[in-house]
Amino acid sequence: MDTVRIAVIGAGVIGLSTAVCISQLVPRCSVTVISDQFTPNTTSNVAAGMLIPHTYPDTPVPTQKQWFTETFRHLSAIAESAEAADAGVHLVSGLKECGGLLLTRRIEDLWELQPSFDIVVNCSGLGSRQLVGDSMISPVRGQVLQAQAPWVKHFIRDGSGLTYVYPGTSYVTLGGTRHKGDWNLSPDAELSREIFSRCCALEPSLRRASNIKEEVGLRPSRPEVRLQKEMLARGGQRLPVVHNYGHGSGGVSVHWGSALEATRLVMEWIHTLRTPATVSKL
Ligand SMILES: Cc1cc2nc3c(=O)[nH]c(=O)nc-3n(C[C@H](O)[C@H](O)[C@H](O)COP(=O)(O)OP(=O)(O)OC[C@H]3O[C@@H](n4cnc5c(N)ncnc54)[C@H](O)[C@@H]3O)c2cc1C
Ligand SMILES: *[C@@H]1O[C@H](CO)[C@@H](O)[C@H](O)[C@H]1NC(C)=O
Ligand SMILES: *[C@@H]1O[C@H](CO)[C@@H](O)[C@H](O)[C@H]1NC(C)=O
Repeated sequence: MDTVRIAVIGAGVIGLSTAVCISQLVPRCSVTVISDQFTPNTTSNVAAGMLIPHTYPDTPVPTQKQWFTETFRHLSAIAESAEAADAGVHLVSGLKECGGLLLTRRIEDLWELQPSFDIVVNCSGLGSRQLVGDSMISPVRGQVLQAQAPWVKHFIRDGSGLTYVYPGTSYVTLGGTRHKGDWNLSPDAELSREIFSRCCALEPSLRRASNIKEEVGLRPSRPEVRLQKEMLARGGQRLPVVHNYGHGSGGVSVHWGSALEATRLVMEWIHTLRTPATVSKL
């Protein structure tokens, strides 16, 4: 096998950063991102983009710390704004510079990608519930407002983190809500009014904000981030998969650390594929 063909499913912050990381670190590979939605239509675009350590109850704490630290160092090194919308744009251009391809397509079954690809990386977020039949993943609905209020330069957050005002490069994010198990992607006008009044209580000048847009995102919540290898087998065929999904409320905060780990797992699969004796044993 000369060039290893890698498909990454999903174009949120997790899929794009994983694709960029693979194309930077893995020699002799081609990377194709396949997704039914691209920026601005992903959950990652709704995120305020704050680096806040979230906790995944079933992921070991040292692992979470490592992902967060690696992400923090990565973002500090490129001294970039952590705003999710922009991060998405930068990741897409970074991927194209590395020769990566983007395809708009909905995947119903991973086997569609065989034999066109040698390794598949599953970064489908909440899509994994259908795609992988993973019932441990569920939505935590979040509604926010994105408004023009360029005079707001500092973030404000209440003690519980439910109400927040996060200035970004092109708009201020006002939040928020968390509703477990709610799949509704349509904004609720009553909730928007309530968010607005909670935020104005923290920062009264927001009453003057203009161009207020309502956005909804479904956090791909799971007790444990699924970051692992799996060899799918059907008939006599095999398809090596790396899963990287279930980042819940903290995907932006750990995206680079989990992309690095997914890349290590891809390298392990490549090693296996290049060692014919081990393939026949799997
Ligand atoms: C209101 C709100 C605020 C947030 N604030 C923060 C914050 O401040 N800091 C932070 O760290 N996190 C925050 N988050 C969480 C963060 O947004 C998520 O953890 C992160 O976006 C998850 O990224 P992802 O790439 O896994 O998922 P997504 O962005 O949902 O991407 C999944 C991708 O997979 C594609 N896909 C799915 N199924 C299929 C299929 N079958 N075929 C093809 N493509 C498929 C989708 O089209 C999409 O491109 C927030 C979330 C919300 C909702
Ligand atoms: C985002 O979704 C809207 C509404 O479905 C669509 O018109 C637009 O083309 C989408 N954008 C991208 C980049 O896919
Ligand atoms: C994700 O992995 C599961 C196997 O656990 C598979 O059934 C599903 O099709 C995969 N989805 C994608 C998009 O890779």
